[in-house]
Amino acid sequence: MILSRRQFFKSSAATAAAAPLVAFAGTCDAAENFAIDISMGNPEGAIRLNFNENALGPSPLAIEGAKAGVEQGYRYALGGMLRPLIAEHHGIEADWILMGTGSTELQRLAPVSVLKEGGNVVSGYETWGGGLVVAEHMGAEVKRVPLISERGYAFDIPAMLNEVDADTKIFLIVTPNNPTGALTPYEDLKMAADALPKDVLFIIDEAYADYLPDGTKTGLDLIKEGYENVLVTRTFSKAHAMAGLRSGYGIAHPDILREIAKYGCGPAATSIAVFGAVQGALADLEHARKSRTHVENCRSYFEGQAAALGVTSVSGVPPFILYEMGDRSAEIVSALRERKILINHAQTWNLPNHIRISYGLEHENEKFIEAFKELL
Ligand SMILES: Cc1ncc(COP(=O)(O)O)c(C=O)c1O
Repeated sequence: MILSRRQFFKSSAATAAAAPLVAFAGTCDAAENFAIDISMGNPEGAIRLNFNENALGPSPLAIEGAKAGVEQGYRYALGGMLRPLIAEHHGIEADWILMGTGSTELQRLAPVSVLKEGGNVVSGYETWGGGLVVAEHMGAEVKRVPLISERGYAFDIPAMLNEVDADTKIFLIVTPNNPTGALTPYEDLKMAADALPKDVLFIIDEAYADYLPDGTKTGLDLIKEGYENVLVTRTFSKAHAMAGLRSGYGIAHPDILREIAKYGCGPAATSIAVFGAVQGALADLEHARKSRTHVENCRSYFEGQAAALGVTSVSGVPPFILYEMGDRSAEIVSALRERKILINHAQTWNLPNHIRISYGLEHENEKFIEAFKELL
């Protein structure tokens, strides 16, 4: 629904908290009949538990930063200037970082940079594979190894290593994984890094790493230990709650990043609003920690509800959970959609017997459980 400015202000429902419409505050004549619709086609009042978004929202400092950027919207932002801040945050050199429009940009361009002359990719089956789709479009064979269901759908590193051959160019895992939440322990990462030929790019998608307990060793540690064929991707979309602002980055040896930058992640690819927001987010790491605590609480809630209802669940540190619903999965997703509660059928990630619920605010989670119980 798009309202005129006058209608918009009259509608008390629309002016209530978190309305999807934002009135134009300018002074030109056009403003009279203008309102911005950022509902993304979702019905008004929809509860969005389908995109692994962080409903707590960005840090107030990130919002301040974004606003400052918008005021300067006529200028290009040089995203590379954020690298020293991120480098300091991770204790790594700035030229080992490449900014992207979300970590997806890095995930999608990495295959472009290494599969030009063919080759295959080894990865998992029940996983988010932004880059795998690109590899397939490029005509590469993607060998998807099933995850280990008895171990919470963890990546099966030994089985994946068995698939590596002379044509393998990429070995890709997601940890913690989406949609299963499984963490690939550092020991397994190291086993893979040691076993892989040095010309195979080991891509580790760590979009959810900020939810891990402090001190957990990850792919970033492999890079710091000198593995020069590892690319780790991180994002501001999740714990920093900036999904719509679009900022992520790759961490790798500068030669790898230089190759990727030939195809994207250009010097002015970062919006100036993001440029400000990232500075705010990094100045307020406590905000991301609050998100982590919120997610821990949500996880206990959703696991507890599942246990009480006799539903099998799969989860880890990321902000979502799988409920096993067998052949009722698709039906439950659409019945909830009719009630304006949006979740996913995990068929998207090759788990047709599961639904994936992203954690929302407390009252949203409760609404989901209430409706879910009625459907059981
Ligand atoms: C594992 C994983 N990687 C990357 C992304 C995309 O992140 P970004 O917003 O940084 O592009 C997602 C989004 O849900 C994800 O689940």
